[in-house]
Amino acid sequence: MVPGFLSLSLSRLGLWASGLVLVLGFFKLIHLLLRKQKLARAMDSFPGPPTHWLFGHTLEIQQTGSLDKVVSWAHQYPCAHPLWFGPFIGFLNIYEPDFAKAVYSRGDPKASDVYDFFLQWIGKGLLVLEGPKWFQHRKLLTPGFHYDVLKPYVSVFAESTRIMLDKWEEKAREDKCFDIFCDVGQMALDTLMKCTFGKGDSGLGHRDSSYYLAVSNLTLLMQQRLESFQYHNDFIYWLTPHGRRFLRACQVAHDHTDQVIRERKAALQDEKEREKIQNRRHLDFLDILLGARDEDGIKLSDMDLRSEVDTFMFEGHDTTTSGISWFLYCMALYPEHQQRCREEALEILGDRDAFQWDDLGKMTYLTMCIKESFRLYPPVPQVYRQLSKPVTFVDGRSLPAGSLISLHIYALHRNSAVWPDPEVFDPLRFSPENVSRRHPFAFMPFSAGPRNCIGQQFAMNEMKVVTALCLLRFEFSLDPSRLPIKIPQLILRSKNGIHLHLKPLGPGSGK
Ligand code: HEM
Ligand SMILES: *[C@@H]1O[C@H](CO)[C@@H](O)[C@H](O)[C@H]1NC(C)=O
Ligand SMILES: *[C@@H]1O[C@H](CO)[C@@H](O)[C@H](O)[C@H]1NC(C)=O
Repeated sequence: MVPGFLSLSLSRLGLWASGLVLVLGFFKLIHLLLRKQKLARAMDSFPGPPTHWLFGHTLEIQQTGSLDKVVSWAHQYPCAHPLWFGPFIGFLNIYEPDFAKAVYSRGDPKASDVYDFFLQWIGKGLLVLEGPKWFQHRKLLTPGFHYDVLKPYVSVFAESTRIMLDKWEEKAREDKCFDIFCDVGQMALDTLMKCTFGKGDSGLGHRDSSYYLAVSNLTLLMQQRLESFQYHNDFIYWLTPHGRRFLRACQVAHDHTDQVIRERKAALQDEKEREKIQNRRHLDFLDILLGARDEDGIKLSDMDLRSEVDTFMFEGHDTTTSGISWFLYCMALYPEHQQRCREEALEILGDRDAFQWDDLGKMTYLTMCIKESFRLYPPVPQVYRQLSKPVTFVDGRSLPAGSLISLHIYALHRNSAVWPDPEVFDPLRFSPENVSRRHPFAFMPFSAGPRNCIGQQFAMNEMKVVTALCLLRFEFSLDPSRLPIKIPQLILRSKNGIHLHLKPLGPGSGK
């Protein structure tokens, strides 16, 4: 039994606690309202679509077809318009090359209202860092994308792709359409684990497969969270079943990364092992990260190492998965371009049976098609910034420091002032002559400026090797009963998967 005086003080404690929560909640609300007012006033000179007092534009944005809704807004409000995520957070949404240049040629920090959701998993890695620390990490990591490092990955890409294509060979025998997105995702993660952790030809072990599951879970859960208003508050989210699953998966991912780092460090201590690593065919990202030193000989801390590895895993697999899947969809949609890419690949290969580094530069038609597919289906459709200083746009309108910016890459790539007949798939837009005549900020699948994608060369190489090998093995065509439905979920996805029909080309035409 609880003594009387204790229960009295307990109930009084409860009263105090709820009072405190109320007061804190009140101050939080005042803070949010003041911020809202500031954001709204800053965007006064930018007219935009009507907003709901509570939901802002989220109702329109959560619907399917939201991407094309924004394209129609972009048509109605040239250059920029306000975009409200709920009642308090308003971005200036931009989709015009000069507007993009004004912001993205500078290195302003990421908008924490969006990117803080990633912190629990990927920590303070390159994607979310800012200021001098970002600069230091960027410099330390850049050697990891030197072409000497990237060269041997050509055969890693080919190996992972072969596993996927063999699986597809089985599925294609049933002569039914199937969703390629999942298989491409597994292939991309498999590749990235090999390039990051240096998993050799021995394949992935048991521990790796639980890591693999955790990463897939994390990406899925994070997408769900971003879409669900009620999950945005950390405290509330961690209490829900989804939030707890998220934390569990985070734990698995972190444990795996820590253990790989520990083992590799131990191996480096060992003289013999070190020699083995140095004589290995190639270095992986982890070798580069462990060896990175700045001018003062300072290396990355264990926490930094983990954040960078996790950032690579997050940034590096979903993006390429989206890119490859939508590219194959485009090929299915336009058989004449598909055939030209295939012929080019056959010609480059000649009587060899594997692509080499030098071949990648010769895939000119394929590269133009990849870029055109990036234009129409950008794997990262939207990126966000918070201005660290005021900006003035070409038309004289300006925004103060602290304003939030959303670059709508999807709408920029379909801006008819820049791209005539934007809906038409035309790889020749990316002929050298046509590219040189266009605004450098008209095409930004990898963003641009100092905070652009550090992995873009890696990604382009992977795209080329994987898609060329796919086109050599199969003919891709549409499943007219299940056309993909575009939805932005961090990356560009299809609500119903990407269902294609695959016809094996047989041993004569493919390799
Ligand atoms: C088709 C594939 C890819 C696309 C479309 C893509 C796109 C992008 C974009 C748009 C950004 C800017 C993000 C922002 O401003 O918030 C970015 C940043 C980044 N990407 Fe990629 N990416 C791809 C593949 C990769 C790969 C394969 C890696 C690593 C292996 C990678 C690593 C990164 C990192 C670390 C950043 C942050 C860079 C910084 O802020 O300094 N990406 N990427
Ligand atoms: C990931 O999800 C699968 C199925 O939903 C589940 O079986 C598995 O335990 C999850 N793994 C982690 C690490 O959360
Ligand atoms: C430039 O693009 C236009 C329209 O896409 C195309 O008709 C033309 O052939 C291209 N020019 C070159 C030199 O490729």
